[in-house]
Amino acid sequence: MPRGGPDASWWDRRYETRREEYIDRPETGARCRQALRGLDRFQRLSGGYRTYSRLAVAAVGDDVPRPRVLELGAGHGRLARHVLARRPGARVTVSDVNPLVVEALRAGPLGRDRRIEIVRLDATAIDRPDGAYDVAVLTTCLHHLPPSGVAAVLREGTRVARRLLVVDGWRNPLYLAAVPLMALTGGWAQAHDGFVSLRRMYGAAAVHALAERCGAPVRVRTRFVPPAYLAVLAERRADSRRTSAVGRASGERVGPNGGGRAG
Ligand SMILES: C[S@@+](CC[C@H](N)C(=O)[O-])C[C@H]1O[C@@H](n2cnc3c(N)ncnc32)[C@H](O)[C@@H]1O
Repeated sequence: MPRGGPDASWWDRRYETRREEYIDRPETGARCRQALRGLDRFQRLSGGYRTYSRLAVAAVGDDVPRPRVLELGAGHGRLARHVLARRPGARVTVSDVNPLVVEALRAGPLGRDRRIEIVRLDATAIDRPDGAYDVAVLTTCLHHLPPSGVAAVLREGTRVARRLLVVDGWRNPLYLAAVPLMALTGGWAQAHDGFVSLRRMYGAAAVHALAERCGAPVRVRTRFVPPAYLAVLAERRADSRRTSAVGRASGERVGPNGGGRAG
């Protein structure tokens, strides 16, 4: 699946790159750490965490007094602090697949907040029961995953949470203009990763196509969020939940697109 979607134009396919970011290569040591620090600084200065937390809180809704929030691919874990500032009653599970990241999170201020649990989780195979959360959130991470990983996140995130919110960069070469700014916030390593990541962002069409093929009845809504984000809100289709409840009661299995079939 091209990152620009199944009908991506020839120039979009050429724009895409297979090059890896330093962030995805912990063996690059100092460069990986510098890119992560630079990204954190960039998100703070550009208002990224504020935007993510606003969208996450909106995804929870006002009717849940003590929302259960799961942050996947948390990195520095700064989003959890912003979410708790907006909803102090929330309980947040902060997770990442990288054990070194999880260790650093536990050693930092989040590790001392009783509202926060810090665990190692793979966003593509979430070791949590169905419906354990009100909302699961994944930010600035989707483009790190291959298409099969994106499909798995959509399936798994909507299994463990009522809603899944994914936010990543908007796919458009014009945003390459931000790369010099990244050089200012994170030096060469972040400029490199920014240049690569912008070319690896998924377009909305790709997300819709992958949701169709994710093996679960997932409905996605995508939209552009200024100044440069793709926001994806995913949930299981309501009719599939009903079919699934009826199916469970009668011993019927539910197919990947919500249609029931006899077991
Ligand atoms: C670019 S950082 C983004 C960190 C943070 N979410 C943010 O918005 O700044 C991507 C993070 O995703 C994590 N990650 C990559 N693949 C993952 C997976 N399959 N499951 C969970 N986390 C993953 C990486 O370890 C890294 O910490």
